[in-house]
Amino acid sequence: MKGIILAGGTGTRLLPLTALTSKQLLPVYDRPMIFYPLNTLIRASVKDILIIVSPGHSGNFLNLLGSMFRKFGVNLSFIVQKSPRGLAEAYILAEDFLDGESSTLVLGDNIFEDDFTEAIRTFEKGGRIFAKEVSDPERFGVVEFDENHEVISIEEKPIAPRSQFAIPGIYIFDKDVVERAKTLTPSERGELEITDLQRYYLSKHMLDVRLIEGAWFDTGTFESLFEASVFAREKKLGDRSHPMINEAIREFNAEYKGIVSLKK
Ligand code: DAU
Repeated sequence: MKGIILAGGTGTRLLPLTALTSKQLLPVYDRPMIFYPLNTLIRASVKDILIIVSPGHSGNFLNLLGSMFRKFGVNLSFIVQKSPRGLAEAYILAEDFLDGESSTLVLGDNIFEDDFTEAIRTFEKGGRIFAKEVSDPERFGVVEFDENHEVISIEEKPIAPRSQFAIPGIYIFDKDVVERAKTLTPSERGELEITDLQRYYLSKHMLDVRLIEGAWFDTGTFESLFEASVFAREKKLGDRSHPMINEAIREFNAEYKGIVSLKK
């Protein structure tokens, strides 16, 4: 199982916060946002992770994370997405990195309280996605269930949602996702849509949808970014991160302080 974090995009909804840095490097309480999706993967023992970044901010990601996890046996790779052509393009960009393996893709701006270790470790074939009841489903991919909890439909940001169940930004797919992503055509908003891939697996009866219980934040608005920070502080999400993440941050800080004092 390999991991992908999608941390590109333009972040225009969060301007001017994103004028000088990437959305996924903005602070969520005590650490840059990217550490939350990294934690989601690392605590599930995913050790090969590709981070997809935008051209304007690639240097910042490299400066922060480039050698941070080397000694812990976590291999981070980086790739630049030239323009934000949609979430599903991640699989096309990641083809060589995936090398025929299954993957868990986490959106760089999604923060989860839940631990996905079991869901990731037990995955074998097809696709596995998640659902969470929300009050504003029109902001998300939306999944509709029948009375037997079977999936009936999946839609991307519907104007009139058929259910309150949003599809959070964590997706587990088998190797076939790469070839399937290559066949997609851009949607009306000009993006290769992740929901089209989900619908493909649904049509093959190979899509497993699980409800998530813990809190979930898509930090795409000022409100949700703020709420995520408050939640991270109250629930001590940082302290509860995988020890390796906190150790890596401590070492980074010590090294950084050393460099700063040498400069003085
Ligand atoms: O947060 C969950 C939702 O994420 C899902 O319910 C939707 O089905 C899915 O389409 C997505 O919707 P968003 O509108 O929130 O996606 P957004 O454009 O904010 O992109 C999500 C992350 O991926 C963000 O960190 C930016 C990054 N991204 C986005 C695009 C379109 C890229 O790295 N490259 C891209 O081409």
